[in-house]
Amino acid sequence: MIPDVSRRDFVKGTAAAVSSAPAVVSALGANDRLQVAFIGLGGRGRYVMDMMYKAVKDQVAVTAICETFSTRLAGAKDYVQTTGGNTPKTFVDYKELLQDKSIDVVFVTSPEHLHHPMAMAALAAGKHIYLEKPLAHTIEEGWEIVKAAKKSGKVMQVGTQNRSNSLYIKAKEMVAQGMIGEIHYARAFWYRNALADGSPAWRYTIPSDASEENTDWSRFLGPAPKRPFNKNRYYQWRLYWDYSGGISTDLLVHQTDVTNFVCGKTVPSSCMSSGGVYQWVQPDDREVPDTFSAVYEYADRFQINYSCFLGNAQFGHGEQFMGREGTIEVLNRQVLNFYTEKVNGKPVPQAASRKEFSENIPGNDNNAVQSHVRNLIESIQGKAKLVAPVEVGQQAAISGHMATLSYRNRKMIQWDSAKNSYRFV
Ligand SMILES: NC(=O)c1ccc[n+]([C@@H]2O[C@H](COP(=O)([O-])OP(=O)(O)OC[C@H]3O[C@@H](n4cnc5c(N)ncnc54)[C@H](O)[C@@H]3O)[C@@H](O)[C@H]2O)c1
Repeated sequence: MIPDVSRRDFVKGTAAAVSSAPAVVSALGANDRLQVAFIGLGGRGRYVMDMMYKAVKDQVAVTAICETFSTRLAGAKDYVQTTGGNTPKTFVDYKELLQDKSIDVVFVTSPEHLHHPMAMAALAAGKHIYLEKPLAHTIEEGWEIVKAAKKSGKVMQVGTQNRSNSLYIKAKEMVAQGMIGEIHYARAFWYRNALADGSPAWRYTIPSDASEENTDWSRFLGPAPKRPFNKNRYYQWRLYWDYSGGISTDLLVHQTDVTNFVCGKTVPSSCMSSGGVYQWVQPDDREVPDTFSAVYEYADRFQINYSCFLGNAQFGHGEQFMGREGTIEVLNRQVLNFYTEKVNGKPVPQAASRKEFSENIPGNDNNAVQSHVRNLIESIQGKAKLVAPVEVGQQAAISGHMATLSYRNRKMIQWDSAKNSYRFV
């Protein structure tokens, strides 16, 4: 039988768990710090670097950076000088950067289609890695990274930082303690609009000084099909299949990943998705949908109902874990609401002694990213257990790729966990 857990008991339990976490590591001398490199210094790379400095500045030194748009390379160099107090070596070719044996850890914060070649090269060079999600651009590439990472013995943290978010950790503990009873269903959604900056979704402003001369197009393309220089593709790569899975691998993977985390799941057994480009039609040449829904089945009687629409932000984004005795929802990564399940307005008997509550931690995603980076550093130092290892990153990526494959083939896709492969039905 599941014991009743009041919020007070629950909070006590969480506090005890936190206090048994590894002690904060003391400051290191300059020579003892981990030597860190960053590859890809666009929006995410600069943000993760900032969070890294906030979390573990005294444990690391950024000694090398690589970026194929010269303005961003120069900007990141300035930033390291100002914030880290040292001058990093700069590179346009990541393979050259990786030859530097003094580098211990590489942060790969490049577009999705470059994750595979960069992660494989970094592992071959013997580096520990922080690899942004999705793990890779295809399921098959993901398996290659999993294999290489395991063989290398190096530490690889995948950038699914919700696993380091205190509210999802709490939700997971609550589910495990039986606060919402038996669970068969989760709803996940991401709604946003592009009204704030007046441009269509993911049509990010192209830097005014960007040109073919200061943007290394062929290094951006990497393994992708060759084509003439195109600023839209370079600076708005999320809109094109060659470089991205769009909603599936940009937003959805975070949400299937954290549902797996909270509810103790791994890979779905099937996915059926649909949607399309409904809002930004021709002459916009985007390929990925702006409106998207996916239904996942899991082998153990569990379903995720996912929806995403990029033209209306009314309901924000979040996940709702719906049990027979209650619901936990995490909204915008910073609010957790707990509701008991009711019949005629009264809590079901099993939940009668459980108190509903709401917790709001503004900006909690920043805390999560800092914690995620700290966890990588402490795992390398042998002081912590890694939160998002490569296998978990691949599980998250598989659900994203299943949704893309179902959408693009207009068919249901099934996952065979014995063979680790998929088929359309
Ligand atoms: N975990 C999260 O919440 C989260 C949030 C945003 C983005 N991301 C991930 O971060 C990654 C980067 O996304 P972004 O929004 O920063 O994209 P971005 O376009 O802003 O940045 C990518 C940078 O990589 C550079 N680049 C391209 N090819 C390169 C190469 N061959 N060598 C070195 N640099 C190269 C580009 O010039 C650009 O500055 C993606 O995988 C994305 O999914 C994760």
